[in-house]
Amino acid sequence: MRVFALVLIIPAVFALTTPVVRVTDSLISVPFAKRISAGGIKSFVEADRARARSLVKIGKRKAAVRAAKAAGLPVPDAGAASSVPVTNELVSYIASVGVGSPATQFDLIVDTGSSNTWVGATTKFTKTSTTVQTANRVSVTYGSGSFSGTEFTDRVTLSSALVINNQSIGVASRSTGFTGVDGIIGIGPVDLTLDTLSPATNTEIPTVTDNLFSQGTIPSHLVAVSFEPTNSETITNGELTFGGTDSSKFTGSITFTPITGTSPASEFWGINQSVRYGTSTNILSSTAGIVDTGTTLILLASNAITAYQKANGAVLDNTTGLLRLTTAQFANLQSLFFTIGGTTFELTANAQAWPRNLNADIGGTANNVYLIVGSIGTPSGEGLDFINGQTFLERFYSVFDTANKRVGLATTPFTTATTN
Ligand SMILES: *[C@@H]1O[C@H](CO)[C@@H](O)[C@H](O)[C@H]1NC(C)=O
Ligand SMILES: *[C@@H]1O[C@H](CO)[C@@H](O)[C@H](O)[C@H]1NC(C)=O
Ligand SMILES: *[C@@H]1O[C@H](CO)[C@@H](O)[C@H](O)[C@H]1NC(C)=O
Repeated sequence: MRVFALVLIIPAVFALTTPVVRVTDSLISVPFAKRISAGGIKSFVEADRARARSLVKIGKRKAAVRAAKAAGLPVPDAGAASSVPVTNELVSYIASVGVGSPATQFDLIVDTGSSNTWVGATTKFTKTSTTVQTANRVSVTYGSGSFSGTEFTDRVTLSSALVINNQSIGVASRSTGFTGVDGIIGIGPVDLTLDTLSPATNTEIPTVTDNLFSQGTIPSHLVAVSFEPTNSETITNGELTFGGTDSSKFTGSITFTPITGTSPASEFWGINQSVRYGTSTNILSSTAGIVDTGTTLILLASNAITAYQKANGAVLDNTTGLLRLTTAQFANLQSLFFTIGGTTFELTANAQAWPRNLNADIGGTANNVYLIVGSIGTPSGEGLDFINGQTFLERFYSVFDTANKRVGLATTPFTTATTN
């Protein structure tokens, strides 16, 4: 795969942050890199939508299995049981993760929408003295790829202070659709790992966050994500903080909102939100959706996008698949207001634009303005009516709090930056 100059090499450092919780030693962050690659240009927007469809399917199945078990009925046929979402190969956030002792480093996609961690798609896995093979095969089918292999337990090193012993990981013997990366570090809810092992189908695989907490390495059962907007001239690292939040990465206070009760969003990092355009145009009434690091765009229900287009004049651009504005329309573009947990988060006009000096990376024309808000492909009422993906998370700090079953969001020094 050809890779653009924006590919970032992760420096071999980790940031010790000023903790909000007072457990300085164990609140540790892991830097990670944003990577834009040429591979998936054509299907860039479609990959996001395919992921959305896949998430809906997975979430519905999880809910059906739970209901059947509660009612003492037979568990429905597995079908797409082991499906997990497509990852978008155009834009990925990648962390360098060590496995074994001595460790082999793997470049893994950071994904809050799936929960298996696995390696070996590109760089070969090497057994060391800490490697223990389990009796299980592991298999996960993605919308546009898959991996299958053997489940091992091993030492996983996220940073020198974040070492997990006995982390259960998949080692791919076969994988498709993962070019230039080695696998995934899945930090979604743990029950998404059910049905991925065989013969131990009914077994959950603790995520790295779960093990860091249960092994006493971090003080709180949560992980926080800092992304920053970027364009081709800026090298910007993301930051993953386990066990606490990094107050240097957000401004004001964090708004926490409970995981939504609405299925299938409730199977993921799902929340309720409403969306308004400008001062008074409601485009999405309060509904459930998810916050997701594995989706590039902000996807909203198709009826919300119709209202958005009507308000700002955007047309669908056939080449990129994104909505497009003229320069004059962009000059009049109003903010989008996301109301979540009683707080309204303003996504400025600039934040709604794809970075213009990266237009060529998505097959676009130099002077056009492309929007990073797109249609999820179905009208609201699906129980998963929006995805706040990377383009949202580059403007707002996010906290995935397993212990309290909630998601936190806050503004950042980049919320109103005019980088695009
Ligand atoms: C190691 O991890 C596996 C799978 O997560 C678990 O079943 C097992 O109990 C763990 N062993 C120890 C010694 O913690
Ligand atoms: C989310 O929205 C649904 C549907 O309007 C509502 O029933 C629920 O109470 C809201 N809050 C949570 C936390 O689910
Ligand atoms: C986009 O493609 C469709 C189908 O190929 C075509 O009918 C339409 O005119 C195109 N729109 C623009 C703006 O080029």
